[in-house]
Amino acid sequence: MLTAVLLIVSLTARHTFSLEWKFPNDFKLGVATASYQIEGAWNTDGRGASIWDTFTHNRSVLIKDGSNGDVACNSYYKWEEDVEMAKNLGVDSYRISLSWSRILPDGTTRKINQPGVDFYNRLINKLLENDIEPIVTLYHWDLPQKFSAWGGWTNPAVINYFAHYARTAFGLFGDRVRTWITLNEPRLICQAYKGLVGDVTSDFPLGTSEYMCAHNLLKAHAEAYHIYDKEFRRTQKGKISITLDFTWTEPANSSNPDDVRAANQNIQFDFGIYANPIMKFDYPKVVIDRVAQRSRLENFPESRLPKFTLAEKLRIKGTYDYIGINHYITLYGRSSPEPPISDPHIDLDAAGERFSNPNWEGCAAYWIKIVPWGLRNLLKWIKNTYRNPEILITENGYANAGDELEDDGRIRYYRSYLNATLQAILEDGVNVKGYLAWSIMDNFEWTHGYTLKFGLYHVNFTDPNRTRTPRKSVEYFKNVTRTRTVG
Ligand code: BGC
Repeated sequence: MLTAVLLIVSLTARHTFSLEWKFPNDFKLGVATASYQIEGAWNTDGRGASIWDTFTHNRSVLIKDGSNGDVACNSYYKWEEDVEMAKNLGVDSYRISLSWSRILPDGTTRKINQPGVDFYNRLINKLLENDIEPIVTLYHWDLPQKFSAWGGWTNPAVINYFAHYARTAFGLFGDRVRTWITLNEPRLICQAYKGLVGDVTSDFPLGTSEYMCAHNLLKAHAEAYHIYDKEFRRTQKGKISITLDFTWTEPANSSNPDDVRAANQNIQFDFGIYANPIMKFDYPKVVIDRVAQRSRLENFPESRLPKFTLAEKLRIKGTYDYIGINHYITLYGRSSPEPPISDPHIDLDAAGERFSNPNWEGCAAYWIKIVPWGLRNLLKWIKNTYRNPEILITENGYANAGDELEDDGRIRYYRSYLNATLQAILEDGVNVKGYLAWSIMDNFEWTHGYTLKFGLYHVNFTDPNRTRTPRKSVEYFKNVTRTRTVG
């Protein structure tokens, strides 16, 4: 009885206490965006086309509402208002991405498009004038269209073009940018949007092009890192890394070793495949072994997973100053019989079964449920697996479907995930250095068009002025940045 009382008291005390915990002074509280999703002005002032322009224009049936990013939030013109909104939110940091083809219209450094450079200069300078740190992603999915005919990221030739683009961007903006992200979510680039990496890739069997794409992206990331390290770090003194998406997979039954193995295998195929070469050495062993074994049974002449040379492994290893994490999904994982040999697919290589809990509170985006402990567990997992690296949560967010401004679900979401982040820092000793909410405003949500709204600010997409209106969650977020507590 006494124990029970003590337990209740201590749980209550801990809960109350955690609400008073503060984010450390150097912790970056911020918001995130991406070029194609907000900028619009797709063919203005010399911008070259990207694969997302072509895809949305030619295959609009594949976009839920048939829309595109031609105008999006019109941030190419409304950037000052965006900075005002960030200022109103009281954020420390604002994450943007550069449109590669706005700076280099055909993707190559043969021509630098000055109006595009001027646009990013104005935006970066305005953020700094307002004491907001610009966090800059080089590549958030909008590959210059010209590379599509080569097979996009499945062609290793793109690696050097990306490296030259990275050098150009560091040279142009690096005197004012302290936090760089090379690539946003390589897994999504290679798996979800594989039809977009280039027309030719759709002819490759599944389970091959994803790995070729991943292989090239890892090399491209490493080249950009080394260019920064060698040519810019001494004078610019910033940090550079990659952003990986992390779906946390919790063993369905943690006392069943098969479920534990299945969950871990899924984490390795989703996350370890990118994180290991960078933060350890080479692809995870389970990924190498399983793809090799299944490739053999499928009669491939060699593993569908390309091999790094020793020199390449050494060049990729250690190319991070922190690790960027986007987190949206938690699932349970359980073991299932080895999938039969048929057409190859990365999901069959990963095997196991993953499922959600129908009792978890969801939102308009079917894949997003409110499961804050998933974030806490994955942060602990990163700490333990990769020797406690510095972590920046570069995205986390919640979607509405309608135009409502009373977004209590989003407030519940942010409060619980910010609280999980604080617990990870203060109770688990995870080295989390920032949290960026996705997103400051509703924007073009890829194949969902404008049907899913992730914004703290609502955007009216039928109004030519793209009027922004604060949702209730803006007040909540302002309180977080003002008090530096979860509120
Ligand atoms: C992407 C964002 C996207 C968000 C919400 C992330 O995978 O980086 O561009 O809008 O998820 O779906």
